[in-house]
Amino acid sequence: MTQKCAIVTGAARGIGLATAKLFLEEGLRVAIVDWDTDELNLHKDLPDTLLLDLDISKPDDVTAIFERTLAWSGRVDALVNNAGIAEFGPVNNTDFAMWRRVMQTNLDGTFLCTQAAIPSLTETKGSVVNIASISGLRASTLRVAYGTSKAAVIQLTKQHAAELGEHGIRVNCVCPGPVRTKLAMAVHTQEIIDAYHDAIPLNRYGSEREIAEVIAFLCSDKASYVTGQIIAADGGFESTGVGLPALRR
Ligand SMILES: NC(=O)c1ccc[n+]([C@@H]2O[C@H](COP(=O)([O-])OP(=O)(O)OC[C@H]3O[C@@H](n4cnc5c(N)ncnc54)[C@H](O)[C@@H]3O)[C@@H](O)[C@H]2O)c1
Repeated sequence: MTQKCAIVTGAARGIGLATAKLFLEEGLRVAIVDWDTDELNLHKDLPDTLLLDLDISKPDDVTAIFERTLAWSGRVDALVNNAGIAEFGPVNNTDFAMWRRVMQTNLDGTFLCTQAAIPSLTETKGSVVNIASISGLRASTLRVAYGTSKAAVIQLTKQHAAELGEHGIRVNCVCPGPVRTKLAMAVHTQEIIDAYHDAIPLNRYGSEREIAEVIAFLCSDKASYVTGQIIAADGGFESTGVGLPALRR
């Protein structure tokens, strides 16, 4: 097979779906992985796509992702570890079950998928892009599980880049700022939305497409000398230290 192929996890909606559509525009085939059967089946008519109704936190499912993708496309050129869950709550209300749910998808799933991708990405000299979050770069309240899982994804990116470079595999990470997806809107009140607008130099949320463009760039040959990098696509949120609204004129 000569047509390149990407696997995008959590791509039935949101940032993952925008990334899958951008890859399709660029001429890649895309395996769309998601455990939400109803959302996944909305994309049955998308050309050049393989829909995989699987859970990235389960080792057997991850094996199936790669077996079925390779049987379909014969190659894997890019893996986007995008599937994620957000469960927010104060430390005192974060029980072990919630901690494990967040870690299983956000961290274990990212580890499992990259591990499984190594043989095929070695063949294609392909690349991995992990999706972390500004919550992995800056601590805040209510995110003891989510923020810690995303900080771990940032470190995992660097660990994998350090070891997989000699196989010709690049590994990078995108940290999105707030985007109006189902995940974010479940935990962002109007007050939080207003506060983000205040704290972000570009004064707005990002779009799914704006995040997808950074992901696609990192997967492309244009980024052929870029690995181990953590890029915030966040309207400037992370770069501002003393960003108090009270300090603005
Ligand atoms: N939206 C934001 O504001 C924002 C900000 C920072 C980081 N992120 C990150 O971006 C990524 C995409 O988030 P989104 O906002 O598009 O959310 P979303 O909820 O719209 O999409 C996430 C998708 O992942 C799928 N998924 C979750 N767990 C899975 C699993 N174990 N196996 C297979 N599929 C699974 C969901 O079914 C869903 O379709 C996530 O990793 C999220 O943490 C989002």
